[in-house]
Amino acid sequence: MAGSPFDWIDEQARLRAQAGLVRTLRPRPAESHLLDLAGNDYLGLTRHPEVTAAAAAAAHRWGAGATGSRLVTGTTELHAELERDLADFCGFEAALVLSSGYAANLAAVTALAPHGSLIVSDAGNHASLIDGCRLARGTTQVVPHADPAAVRKALGTHEGPAVVVSDSVFSVDGDATPLSELAAVCREAGAGLLVDDAHGLGVLGDGGRGAPHAAGLAGSADTVVTVTLSKSLGSQGGAVLGPAKVIAHLVNAARTLIFDTGLAPAAAGSALAALRLLRREPERAARARAVATKLHELLTEEGLSAVRPDAAVVSVRAPSPEAAVRWAADCRREGLAVGCFRPPSVPDGVSRLRLTARADLSDAQVAEAVATISRTAP
Ligand SMILES: Cc1ncc(COP(=O)(O)O)c(C=O)c1O
Repeated sequence: MAGSPFDWIDEQARLRAQAGLVRTLRPRPAESHLLDLAGNDYLGLTRHPEVTAAAAAAAHRWGAGATGSRLVTGTTELHAELERDLADFCGFEAALVLSSGYAANLAAVTALAPHGSLIVSDAGNHASLIDGCRLARGTTQVVPHADPAAVRKALGTHEGPAVVVSDSVFSVDGDATPLSELAAVCREAGAGLLVDDAHGLGVLGDGGRGAPHAAGLAGSADTVVTVTLSKSLGSQGGAVLGPAKVIAHLVNAARTLIFDTGLAPAAAGSALAALRLLRREPERAARARAVATKLHELLTEEGLSAVRPDAAVVSVRAPSPEAAVRWAADCRREGLAVGCFRPPSVPDGVSRLRLTARADLSDAQVAEAVATISRTAP
């Protein structure tokens, strides 16, 4: 008897298990005793009463879903208001909200890299930028990590439109790209710069206005920025920020905008509330950075190999994927939730624990987290 058409999956599953790389979904309870250094709620806003009340109010007023794509029925006044506020806060002419940061990256890369163009992409970029490159009509050249000289060289080989694509803060190690140098290289070559500021918004720059703002690139005619609403803003969704003509082009050309249902009103409303809170309480951004610095300092004092954080992500090296999984599980047993990054999510094959600093962590919680990580270290 013929087997199932999906029998080939068994072999993949066996190889994955052998390599210690099996992933499983684990529903988390609404209330937990765990100290959370695994989520991306950098500013502690996802359960802020103003933010959750805004989500509920938006759902009551506009409905649970957006009802259609942005171009049909999926644009509400809330979406328009969020776009104005995001653009204004980060210093760009215009913004476009999409249903996730992933969709925003696919939109921006594909729409800005037409046939015959060159995309220069950092080797450490997030999967959503990589997938954008794969879907784009232009040709992609991957360059070594955070290396403006390599970008200059790549741009030098090409005639025609070019765009350089990079995370501002890399999600695996929490290190930042040298954004000013990268922008200078782009200007020199007449290339566009597309920065994914998923980990910079709310954490870096004046009051959390992001890495491009900090680098003096806000409002520049040759810079486009993508953000997620799901980390610092504690909500869900994504956005592209940039010159009005780029945003108008995306409305007409970005398939993840045109063929996707608009962001749910509750997500738009809560992101808007979080953004307004951040304007009012800009010290949250500085506190998230200070917590990250303290985590790194204490981990290093304990003799652990942690990467100096440029924003709120702190990465600690583990000797193997199996050891990383065991380490994270031991932390959990001792009351601490941490992220665990293993291949294929890490470009260099090095497994890590991934900690996220939060503005609402106390000094005592930071010390407790480091003590747990150190006690359970392989
Ligand atoms: C650097 C980076 N870009 C984009 C995304 C995708 O954003 P979203 O989760 O909103 O799809 C993430 C994380 O999720 C990220 O870390």
